Amino acid sequence: MPLVPMRQILDEAAKGGYGVGAFNVNNMEQVQAIMEAANETNSPVIIQASRGALKYSRMIYLKKLIEAATEEYPHIPVSMHLDHGNSIETCKEAIDLGFTSVMMDGSLKSDGKTPATYEENIEITRKVVEMAHPLGVTVEGELGVLGGIEDGHGAGLSDEEVADHLTDPNQAEDFVEKTGLDALAVAIGTSHGAYKSGRKDPKTGEILPPTLAMERIHQIHEKMPNCHMVMHGSSSVPKELVDVINQYGGEMPGTFGIPVEQIQDGIKHGVRKVNVDTDSRLACTGAIRKVFAENPKAFDPRQYLTPARDAMKQVYLDRMRAFGQAGHAGDYKPMSLDDMKKVYGY
Ligand code: G3H
Ligand code: 13P
Ligand code: ZN
Repeated sequence: MPLVPMRQILDEAAKGGYGVGAFNVNNMEQVQAIMEAANETNSPVIIQASRGALKYSRMIYLKKLIEAATEEYPHIPVSMHLDHGNSIETCKEAIDLGFTSVMMDGSLKSDGKTPATYEENIEITRKVVEMAHPLGVTVEGELGVLGGIEDGHGAGLSDEEVADHLTDPNQAEDFVEKTGLDALAVAIGTSHGAYKSGRKDPKTGEILPPTLAMERIHQIHEKMPNCHMVMHGSSSVPKELVDVINQYGGEMPGTFGIPVEQIQDGIKHGVRKVNVDTDSRLACTGAIRKVFAENPKAFDPRQYLTPARDAMKQVYLDRMRAFGQAGHAGDYKPMSLDDMKKVYGY
């Protein structure tokens, strides 16, 4: 099956009332693990690559890997999405490469660090929509700013600053209307990476779970029931995965993630795309550390990449079931970018 526009995957998810995991990839093992999990659960999937991933994999390799995935599993709808595009040029490069969906993260300036103004965000997101829709390509935009920094990307705001940059539900309506985007990434207090909370118990110093402004998602859904929302920073950072890392020589204290139940509440209220990267990184690292700790003489990469791939697959299986996408791969006839162009009126 050729790659499908992400808009179709989100529209179908809205009809079925479920969410779809958007999993970040950097290498073959991640692509294979996602596809094995999608095949086993019969799930549509969104495979996404950040700018860092495209640089690491030297672009064409990642594209060919995802193409291989669609050839191996022709019955699974797959969308190839650019995560956190920082400029019109980056989005264009991804579209030229064959991505069926792009994120223009206009919440930050092109340095990927400085929060942009609302007007700048509208303008750049609208321009990407004007470029992408005539080609049938889906566009995700972001309103509000997430916490955390991954690979140099992110504003690195403190918890207090994050609270000032949450998505404003009233502005969201205006933003969607003025940009014409397909999917709206919301800032509700999540952040990228494994350390999602700066909250500490004042007495014990123990890290407390991050507080999320779920009511903003509820409000946006009430105002715009047809708007597809995206939750970034949605790794759950399961304790058991962090424990494996620490048991075999790692040092990851004070991690905290987003409980799956909170994501499911978001899905009930219009979240259709759920971004997960960190959980797969944790599973991969733990599995590799375990092999090296138990077999100090090991030197064949297949000896540690095979359990790493299996551990990541387990994360994807769990998330596909929890988000509700499992069982939905065969629900619809996949659209081409040409079909989608017509839907946009081109
Ligand atoms: O947006 C954050 C994703 O986890 C991608 O992270 O930029 O390190 O590839 P990355
Ligand atoms: P996590 O770091 O929580 O996995 O979030 C990933 C993400 O939002 C990618 O855009
Ligand atoms: Zn993100």
